[in-house]
Amino acid sequence: MTDDEPAGENPPVRRVSDWDADRLVDLAGEYDTPLYVQDLDRVRENCERLRDAFPDADLRYAVKAHTGRAVLEAVREAGLDAECASAGELDRALAAGFDGSRIHYTAVNPPARDLDYVVGVAGAEPGLTVTVGAVDTLDRLAERGYDGRVCVRVNPGVGAGHHEKVRTGGAAKFGVPRDRAAAVARDAAARFDVVGVHAHAGSGIDPEQLDSHRELVARMGELSRELAEPERDASGGTEPVDLEYVDVGGGFGVPYEEADPPLDLAAVADATREAVAPLPDGVALAVEPGRYVVADAGVLVTRVNTVKPTPAETVVGVDAGMTDLLRPALYDAYHPISNLGGGRSADGGDAAPADRSATPVTVAGPICETGDVLCRDRALADPVRGDLLAVGVAGAYGYEMASQYNSRPRPAEVAVHGGASTLVRRRETLADLTAVEREPPEPAASEADAVERRGGASERGAAADRDAAPETDRGVRDR
Ligand code: LLP
Repeated sequence: MTDDEPAGENPPVRRVSDWDADRLVDLAGEYDTPLYVQDLDRVRENCERLRDAFPDADLRYAVKAHTGRAVLEAVREAGLDAECASAGELDRALAAGFDGSRIHYTAVNPPARDLDYVVGVAGAEPGLTVTVGAVDTLDRLAERGYDGRVCVRVNPGVGAGHHEKVRTGGAAKFGVPRDRAAAVARDAAARFDVVGVHAHAGSGIDPEQLDSHRELVARMGELSRELAEPERDASGGTEPVDLEYVDVGGGFGVPYEEADPPLDLAAVADATREAVAPLPDGVALAVEPGRYVVADAGVLVTRVNTVKPTPAETVVGVDAGMTDLLRPALYDAYHPISNLGGGRSADGGDAAPADRSATPVTVAGPICETGDVLCRDRALADPVRGDLLAVGVAGAYGYEMASQYNSRPRPAEVAVHGGASTLVRRRETLADLTAVEREPPEPAASEADAVERRGGASERGAAADRDAAPETDRGVRDR
């Protein structure tokens, strides 16, 4: 996206310093802060690199990383399918134009309302696949009259990921235990059209965890062979299960720290193909990355509102916090931050960031929680009030995990594409905060009496206060 970037180049990572700082400043001027900026061209480039690395695989985008309509449309046009974890994600994938045959519903413990919705959609879109991680869920589908496409999610017994909270592979919550998977898939084939098996190690797998990924993939390859050739399978099956694919999940890591090398996607793809082989005839490999598609395509731009030197540290207060980008507070995640400048120091200085000294600072948000910091002890070009900061690699699980905690409206999001920009999510307003709230109930009779008694007492108290108050206080007290 920088002006001097050669056209057509598709680098393996976009660093925060690769963004055109002037353009981010202009966007913040136009749309205000905090502001998410998502580059749709970069989303497409990431899809292209995945396609180049996995030319024969089924590619699915785990939409939970970023469900914005503009992103979903870009991914659909780039040819990836959609992996959806809820009825809401499924609904958004449909709205973005994904055909049911390109949607994989992969929910964990799906609520009844979601299952009702999904089964309804599948009636009209029989190509839709439901991925199921418990026999109970199969029964719940059958109870709703569903007999369509099913994929069995397996707990592969091996997990990986950037934080223990996102290592799904070994957690009992996810998938059918591996030693029962073949039997479950065979039984399911009597009631449904079993088309795949699935496993996911976790999210943000870095190059050092490739062995875990390889192990998971090897186990899934073995399972597909057991299902294709019942004589290999100890579960006693006699009929082969005709699979279309083995889905080995997502989780491809992206470098957050400036010094981290980009993931060698070609090497991951080679290792994956090698570990899963030999796949039975007609069975495809499938992968479903989320983060890799959108992470480095997004930045969060925030403005410095307070600079507070203290004996312990200098705290730089900004207008974005854990409600806008939760990852640092939830996972201690590192996000690169670059000072775009634009502010003015107390002594009137407005030097460009490049001409300022680097100062170690804590960048803190506006939420009343100690954990609401975007970074600690980070050397940034001396921030002054009014500066804009770009928080990089924020395109995955950024807006997606934003909340209204502390009654903070969620930020705006702008999509950039070529030289143009489009506001794709308006900033929420204070009115949005109460949009779903309804009138509280009328107090019940006995409560009403109590309220009246309390109200009466406080009325009398207020009257006494008024009488005692000096003339000048009255206006304030009466309000
Ligand atoms: N497939 C399944 C079944 C998943 O549960 C996930 C992520 C993915 C694919 C995509 O994983 P990815 O390629 O994006 O790593 N909020 C956390 C990440 C949680 C991911 C949950 N599942 C974060 O901000 O790091």
